[in-house]
Amino acid sequence: MLVSAKEMLTKAKKEKYAVGQFNINNLEWTKAVLLTAQELNSPVILGVSEGAGKYMCGYTTVVGMVKGMINELGITVPVALHLDHGSYEGAKKCIEAGFSSVMFDGSHYPIEENIAKTKELVETCNKLGLSLEAEVGAIGGEEDGVIGGGEVADPKECKMIADLGVTMLAAGIGNIHGKYPENWAGLSFDTLDAIQQLTGEMPLVLHGGTGIPADMIKKAISLGVSKINVNTECQLSFAAATRKYVEEGKDLQGKGFDPRKLLAPGFDAIKETVKEKMELFGSIGKA
Ligand code: 13P
Repeated sequence: MLVSAKEMLTKAKKEKYAVGQFNINNLEWTKAVLLTAQELNSPVILGVSEGAGKYMCGYTTVVGMVKGMINELGITVPVALHLDHGSYEGAKKCIEAGFSSVMFDGSHYPIEENIAKTKELVETCNKLGLSLEAEVGAIGGEEDGVIGGGEVADPKECKMIADLGVTMLAAGIGNIHGKYPENWAGLSFDTLDAIQQLTGEMPLVLHGGTGIPADMIKKAISLGVSKINVNTECQLSFAAATRKYVEEGKDLQGKGFDPRKLLAPGFDAIKETVKEKMELFGSIGKA
C-alpha cells in the first residue's frame, strides 16, 4: 500500500534523521529502491519527475507498476509515491492517477501566485489524505527540463507558504541539481537555520542530494531537514556499472546480452547507492 509522506516525515523530524527520496526511471530502478528499503527496514519516497513520468508511459502506468511491485515483492515498509517538481497541471494529474504525495513547484511564480496555487492544492490534498511539498526559492541547476536559478530562499516567504498547511517545504539554500561545480560555495546554513526557526515543526526538504559532503548532510539534518532528494547519483552509479560490464565484453559472453543480465550490475549499483544514502541519512530501521 502507498502512504502519504506525512507520518514518516513527522517522525523523521522528531527523531532527527531524514527519509530519502530516490527518483525512479524504470522497472529496475523502482525494484532496486523498494528492495533496498525493505532489506534495511527504512521508509522511502519514490520520486517521479514529469519527464520520467512521461518516459514510463504516464502516471497511471507508474502507479500500476509501483503498486504491483509492493504487492508482489511483499514490501511492508512505508512507501510514498511522489511527484517531483510538479507543475500545477501535473500535480492534478498525479492526484487523479493515484500518487500518494505531490510536489507543487511554484518557486518560479511571483510569491502571491505561488501562494494562491499552493493553497488550492493544500485543500485538495488534505481532503484526499495526500502529502504536499511546496517550494520557495528555486533550486539551482537543471532537472528534466526544470531549470532553477540557485536562489537562496527568503525565510519570511518560507513561513508564508508553510502556514498554508503544506506537509513539507523545499527551500533553496544554495543546493543544486546534478553534480556540484568545483567552486560551489556550499549550503547556506544560516538561511536553513532562519527557515527552521520560523517554520518550527515543518519537515524541510533538501533537493540536489547528489554530491553534498556527508558532514553538510548531517548538519542540514540537525537543522530540520527531514527529506533528502537523490537522483543523479543513482544514474551515475547505474551508468558506471553498465559501462564496466560492456567494456569487459560481458555482453558478448554466452547470453550476456540478455537484458536481465545486462542490466543486473546497474541494478546492484543503484541498490548500493541507496543503501549508502540511507545509512548517511539515518533512516535504517525506522520503518
Ligand atoms: P540530484 O539529481 O542532484 O540528486 O537532485 C535530486 C533532486 O533534488 C530531485 O528533486
